[in-house]
Amino acid sequence: MKPTVAPFPAARLRRTRVSPAIRGLVRENTLTTDDLIWPVFVRDGEGIEEPVASMPGVVRRSVDKIAEAAFEAQALGIPAICLFPYTDASLKTEDCAEAWNPDNLCNRAIRAIKAVAPDIAVMTDVALDPYNINGHDGYVVDGEILNDETVEALVKMTLAQAEAGADIIGPSDMMDGRIGAMRTALEAKGHRNVSILSYSAKYASGYYGPFRDAVGASGALQGDKKTYQMDPGNSDEAMRLIERDLQEGADMVMIKPGIAYLDICYRVKSTFGAPTFAYQVSGEYAMIQAAAQNGWIDGEKVMLESLMAFKRAGCDGILTYFAPETARILNG
Ligand code: PBG
Repeated sequence: MKPTVAPFPAARLRRTRVSPAIRGLVRENTLTTDDLIWPVFVRDGEGIEEPVASMPGVVRRSVDKIAEAAFEAQALGIPAICLFPYTDASLKTEDCAEAWNPDNLCNRAIRAIKAVAPDIAVMTDVALDPYNINGHDGYVVDGEILNDETVEALVKMTLAQAEAGADIIGPSDMMDGRIGAMRTALEAKGHRNVSILSYSAKYASGYYGPFRDAVGASGALQGDKKTYQMDPGNSDEAMRLIERDLQEGADMVMIKPGIAYLDICYRVKSTFGAPTFAYQVSGEYAMIQAAAQNGWIDGEKVMLESLMAFKRAGCDGILTYFAPETARILNG
């Protein structure tokens, strides 16, 4: 649709910017607390909130503190929390068995949240990297990341999370065929209402650096993730991945990272019309916080502006470490 504009001075586009009231009336997109998914890091211990150095304002929480955070999220009107475990090095193995341990950190945190804040939707991350001795999302044999064997492990991990009470499964591994395998297994075990939010278009990105510190995977990672995560030069490939995942049964899809890939968000939403999410990742968060701490930008303004950009690009929601701060502002 091409907007029609009368010749000047019949049209003065500044007229609709003249006051807050009129700007509010004509605003095309809005950001609300309903749009937010809050990623949180969980660690072992009790009563612990440990700062993540490369992500100012973000902490790793012990399970009891995760429950408190969920309670806070509920009070703030944040609909969903996404869990990422910081797994002790002693639990990382080549077979990644901790990933489907019903009592691993993530699964304990799911149950703790459900006990205090049952209205919060709990999302999980499905990939082997927190449990893998070499930091990769899949099994590594002779330097190769094995696809089908990894998918089998991811299915076990998915079922353990669904058993623990997860509402949304978030496969971030980028293996082929995982969505179909997970959906089939969830249906077979009666988890019909557990959704899959697929990290469908996930790029091999430099923006994940602070996250890998947060989950303790930076030291472990050997090499890079380019044989499974996407090449930043590609856009059509993202469309094929999204279509493939939707056909395999993904309920919602994600583009990751966020701001540098808004063209993909826009293309995905306008082509498929499916529930579309973006992940404003750790590096994006760290960049805004670092500049704000130096007094180079107004952090609050840039935070809200960056989140609005996702809405404008067509996203239905955003995973963002800014979720609680944003909710506090939106709630006045
Ligand atoms: C791991 C995973 C990563 C992120 C989410 N899940 C890192 C990676 O792929 O190396 C990144 C999130 C962020 O940077 O905030 N499968």
